[in-house]
Amino acid sequence: MVQLEQDGVARRIIAAIKAQIHGGAYRPGDRLPSTRAFAAEWGASRTTVTAAYNQLDAEGYLIIRQGARAIVAPGLERASGEAPVAAASPRNLSAFARRLLALPPPTEQQPAKIADFRYGDLSGADFPVLAWRRASNKAILRRPARLRYGDPQGSSVLRNALQAYIWRARGISCAPDQIVIVNGSQQGLDLCARLLLDHGDPFVIENPGYPLARHAFAAVGGVAVPVAVDAEGLRTDALPPARLAYVTPSHQFPLGGVLSATRRRSLLGWATASGAYVVEDDYDGEYRHDITPIPPLQALDADAVIYVGTLSKTLSPTLRLGYLVVPAGLCRGFSEAKRLTDRHAPMLEQDALADLLASGAYERHVRSIRRRNAERREVLLQALADHFGPRIVVEGADTGLHVVVWMKDVAAEHEEALITAARAAGIGLYPVSPLYDPSRPRPETAGFVVGYAGLDAEALRRGVAALATLMAEHR
Ligand SMILES: Cc1ncc(COP(=O)(O)O)c(C=O)c1O
Repeated sequence: MVQLEQDGVARRIIAAIKAQIHGGAYRPGDRLPSTRAFAAEWGASRTTVTAAYNQLDAEGYLIIRQGARAIVAPGLERASGEAPVAAASPRNLSAFARRLLALPPPTEQQPAKIADFRYGDLSGADFPVLAWRRASNKAILRRPARLRYGDPQGSSVLRNALQAYIWRARGISCAPDQIVIVNGSQQGLDLCARLLLDHGDPFVIENPGYPLARHAFAAVGGVAVPVAVDAEGLRTDALPPARLAYVTPSHQFPLGGVLSATRRRSLLGWATASGAYVVEDDYDGEYRHDITPIPPLQALDADAVIYVGTLSKTLSPTLRLGYLVVPAGLCRGFSEAKRLTDRHAPMLEQDALADLLASGAYERHVRSIRRRNAERREVLLQALADHFGPRIVVEGADTGLHVVVWMKDVAAEHEEALITAARAAGIGLYPVSPLYDPSRPRPETAGFVVGYAGLDAEALRRGVAALATLMAEHR
């Protein structure tokens, strides 16, 4: 009887390991857990696990060597074209899930080899490794006697340091209680969506605009009302009724216009009159090249504006650190929503950032990365001028970390072919057209969002030169 039970367990272990190998979770050369560890995990005897491993060895799935952990045998990798395990269609999805799945999926690609102009990437060489390591080490060593959950709005030390920083850097005056530390601005947008929109509520969104903001608001059932932008940012002359407006006033994403003072006033007037909130995404406010700083909307109306800041453009998009400055009346709502989402942002990173801010290392770093990106921008603009001259129009170069390049002599229908040819030549090119609302007309000429913060001068020059060659062939 006992033997039969053991055989049953061994068979299940064998089937489970084979499934992991076929599914690609274990790949050739991967080490399996020791028989002791596996037995403890499964609540089986070590003899049973050893028997299962030996059987898999005999069948050619594993290689067992004396004194070493079993490894997965070579030649068992899933063929790249092989279909992944068929997923059963989901049952009983919520309306939220259905809306989410109906959104256009993102296109993720490996970085192109010669020059990848993907917007949002930063250069690894710009990360302040030493300062961050010093700050992280200090944070780890300060380990408190008791490890307990923190404040959902974020550590008070970080919020105090941020309050001082955003006042110095952006002229925002707020209480630390109005700050909510979030996992990147994306989480901030998601919290805004959940707290400020009901199903069917209209929201104003720039057209073209930031798809991840649009999707966050649409996923909760909001109805996008796209409003055109021009060189001065969002057109505020005929704002429709809405519960919320999402704007990027310091550097309109993607076209790069800076919202003029008149339009700032008219947007805030609209918000007051309609009882709407304005979500101000100041994603790259640290980067001004040729213009004097313009105070954020939040500094003009702290009751109507939710300010969204991120560390993704100055430190790293991989850190997932951002912050909101919310009107005082919304603090509790944001705090509770954040608690329900994930309790709070990771403490170690918050402590490290607080240290960086308090020691002045963050501002030194910002000054240095601003200089480096200004140099990259110069190189890019010069290379574009040298190779393309009047055949292109460059937009949005005054601030930020990207420009938009319109190819005047390439019709929009050739955009796709150019992107494919560029990728084959090792150049990553990203079109502006998908950033337009699907219900509105798209531009007639090919246009690209060209990010430069992830590339060095040499790659920028080579990338633009290669693109010019391609275009000449294309023509
Ligand atoms: C318009 C806009 N907002 C915000 C972000 C930053 O997002 P996060 O803070 O979630 O990394 C980006 C990044 O590319 C962006 O383009």
